[in-house]
Amino acid sequence: MFVKRKDPREEQWSGYRNGVQAAEDVFNADEAFDVSQAETLLPKLLWAAKLIYTETQTPPGNPIYNFFARANSEPAKTPLFPVMNKLRAIKSNAEVTNMRRAGQISGRVITNAMRKAWTKEKDLHAFLDYEFTINGCDGPAYIPVVAGGERGSCIHYTVNNNTFKDGEFIMVDAGGEYGTYITDISRTWPVNGKFSPAQRDLYEAVLNVQRTSVALCRESANLSLDDIHGVTTRGLVDQLKLIGFDVNMSNISQLFPHHVGHYIGLDVHDCPGYSRREKLSRGHCVTIEPGVYVPNDERWPAHFRGLGVRIEDSVCVDDDSPYVLSTEAVKEINDIEALRDS
Ligand code: GLY
Ligand code: MN
Ligand code: MN
Repeated sequence: MFVKRKDPREEQWSGYRNGVQAAEDVFNADEAFDVSQAETLLPKLLWAAKLIYTETQTPPGNPIYNFFARANSEPAKTPLFPVMNKLRAIKSNAEVTNMRRAGQISGRVITNAMRKAWTKEKDLHAFLDYEFTINGCDGPAYIPVVAGGERGSCIHYTVNNNTFKDGEFIMVDAGGEYGTYITDISRTWPVNGKFSPAQRDLYEAVLNVQRTSVALCRESANLSLDDIHGVTTRGLVDQLKLIGFDVNMSNISQLFPHHVGHYIGLDVHDCPGYSRREKLSRGHCVTIEPGVYVPNDERWPAHFRGLGVRIEDSVCVDDDSPYVLSTEAVKEINDIEALRDS
């Protein structure tokens, strides 16, 4: 293991280091060295190796990169990330415990946010960050989306500096991190606490599909995330037709422009490059997040224009049923409306 050596002067400025000795004593490295020696030591350590697994993204200037970047040098190199993705994609019980804690704390905080009347996106943003942290998370897992009205249709809206208006939706996509594992949750609720008829119809359509898709997160379904995306897309077409949309499989992407989900874990978008065609099996952790965002366009029913709804849960796949990690964030219309009454 190559690590930065202890250096009191540098540590005074940039924070404490474990150092070379701790790499052996605490982290159980067979041998540890100062990373500044890597360029000279690696050729000696690796002369007999036939194949080296390596990160391809290491920044130039890093001594280990200098060694691996040397053109045509033996031994052969192969990317490390496919191996790491495989190791990371299936979570151990200990990892799931951390993700469940992140989901439980964050879900409760989002439910508590629904109890209150909000006028500013930035106030709600501050509430979420603060409450995640003081309730036991390490901090927020990512910059949240806190969007009023039509801004909810902007998938990566994070400026969170506008005001909420009566009659609009609030959309929140937020989660905390616990023990370095994240949770990823989206909820949509009315600014004034009471769903209008159009908000209710659109919300129910998305929720019906979301529930069905969450239920498919079990090994016995023998489906991949891409398969569940297909089921979700067809479900949204059916549900939206029932409430008056002229929609079909070829134009649904104008309303539902993103994938139903992604892997989660140490990162929000965990295991990048790990295929969504893999059949889901016990220990895979994913999001299920159908969304419908209705543009201000004459082709869609007038009363739905400008509405955006996304409902996202973090889910761990089990043998015969999903283990929903974010169940404390309420999502039934009756439950959301009851929060404001109480
Ligand atoms: N929060 C990012 C996502 O839902 O993918
Ligand atoms: Mn997500
Ligand atoms: Mn999200």
